[in-house]
Amino acid sequence: MNNVVIAPSILSADFANLERDIKKIKDGGAEWAHVDVMDGHFVPNITIGAPVVKAIRKVTDMFLDVHLMIENPEKYVPDFAKAGSDLITFHYEATRENTDSVIDLIKSFGIKVGLSIKPKTKPEEIKEYLDKVDMILVMTVEPGFGGQSFMSDCAEKIKYIRENSTNKDLRVEVDGGINAETGKICKDYGADTLVAGSYVYGNSDITAAIQSLR
Ligand code: DX5
Ligand code: ZN
Repeated sequence: MNNVVIAPSILSADFANLERDIKKIKDGGAEWAHVDVMDGHFVPNITIGAPVVKAIRKVTDMFLDVHLMIENPEKYVPDFAKAGSDLITFHYEATRENTDSVIDLIKSFGIKVGLSIKPKTKPEEIKEYLDKVDMILVMTVEPGFGGQSFMSDCAEKIKYIRENSTNKDLRVEVDGGINAETGKICKDYGADTLVAGSYVYGNSDITAAIQSLR
């Protein structure tokens, strides 16, 4: 299994001090910065666009894990790739019929690709893609907001994903309601990449919070 990667979500950072708050997670030992992109259609909120990713790229060398919670991801992938994303994850529910072409589009920029499923989507639906992507992101809350409670039945999907993938390098990421306790449940099912927003940024000792997720 891969090493555990901790990816704090900057959705819980202070948007007026993104450079400072990204430095905090880097200094705290996190490997990736998770960037939550919401469009007000696929999910009810609007958050970060490609210009913000471009600005972040200038002030950090952290691996940028960009999570697109948007309709028609193919329209925006080029902007996010050129802005400096290291990995772009999109939602299966937003593509379905053209999932293969969005995977190829992201790969064409020479970056990594992730595919995500919402709580109501069964892992069986994405079986054919498990060996075509670098990462599967299993949402453990309904996407749209930080600070929600972890749904343990979603974490069980990780088992199916591991059992049905032949790619031993496949990353399985979890996102939503992750803390030391729920993160452990996910790791036990086979997750190796943990997103945590409110747990990390809400903690007065960010280094200790990141360490507790390992
Ligand atoms: C939810 C986002 C998450 C969110 C996680 O739609 O995809 O990345 O920021 O937040 P916490 O860790 O606070 O549940
Ligand atoms: Zn996310």
